[in-house]
Amino acid sequence: MPDPVILDSIAALRMWREERRAAGRRIGLVPTMGALHAGHLSLVSGVKRVADEALVSIFVNPTQFAPNEDFSKYPRTFNRDVELLSEVGAEAVFAPRVLDMYPEGFATAIEPGGPAKAGLEDAFRPTHFAGVATVVTKLLLQCLPEVAIFGEKDFQQLAVIRHVARDLDIPVEILGGATVREADGLAMSSRNVYLSKAERGIAPVLHQVLLGAAEAIRGGTRLDVIEGGALRELSSHGFITDYVAIRDAATLGRPEPGARPESLRILVAAKLGATRLIDNIAAG
Ligand code: PAJ
Repeated sequence: MPDPVILDSIAALRMWREERRAAGRRIGLVPTMGALHAGHLSLVSGVKRVADEALVSIFVNPTQFAPNEDFSKYPRTFNRDVELLSEVGAEAVFAPRVLDMYPEGFATAIEPGGPAKAGLEDAFRPTHFAGVATVVTKLLLQCLPEVAIFGEKDFQQLAVIRHVARDLDIPVEILGGATVREADGLAMSSRNVYLSKAERGIAPVLHQVLLGAAEAIRGGTRLDVIEGGALRELSSHGFITDYVAIRDAATLGRPEPGARPESLRILVAAKLGATRLIDNIAAG
């Protein structure tokens, strides 16, 4: 495959976008923070099924990291990322600098509500979704794609972005992409490189606990009993759990009594040593 075009400024992006529009091409945007793995690449393939050209943004967005989080040590592997994107046939890479996205005096933010206040990630990372919503809104307005795709791996993020796009009437179709996992079930994540060898051995328990919870939901066990059992199992393996929660998959609110398993999602966030892992699966 030919190398993707590298667009390293908003002006270069706009020029490329105009040319593509004039050629009648439908653009699919895949926002990322780089350190790409097979999960990201599956989104590129997914968007290429519904758009003519895949535009991948690579931007480690400082505003979605809290001061105590890993912004400065977040893995940055740009050349390798471009190689991988070339292999999956991405047409263009948008890689702005921090000062392009947040010039001096930048003073506007999108403060999402609804699923952004579900008491899941937001309870532990209170400034995170404002950072995500602001940067994704900027990316959508800069790139003006017909469609944009986000992973179910970050299920609450996907729900927040759908809500923001709808509330702000951003003319884009938002797609979700299935979570890509390692052979042992661990959801792929750029942060998995932080795990020690021993932690990497334990990490797949997170997915196993989700599978067990889904089975128990289908078997009719009470949801609070399942959540309690999952929490105990995680701590017995050395996880420090932020939350393990069974929620309505559409709103991320607490499920109605008697809700059908197909309408439910099980979400978890837990630390293994210094590394925070998140995952989720459908219950039905
Ligand atoms: P990042 O963590 O780089 O993820 C980019 C996209 O890849 C997100 O939509 C995420 O859900 C998806 N993804 C990550 N791991 C995946 C996996 N194992 N399977 C499938 N998809 C996966 O999420 C972000 O960046 C940022 O918050 C961003 C949306 C780019 C805004 O800065």
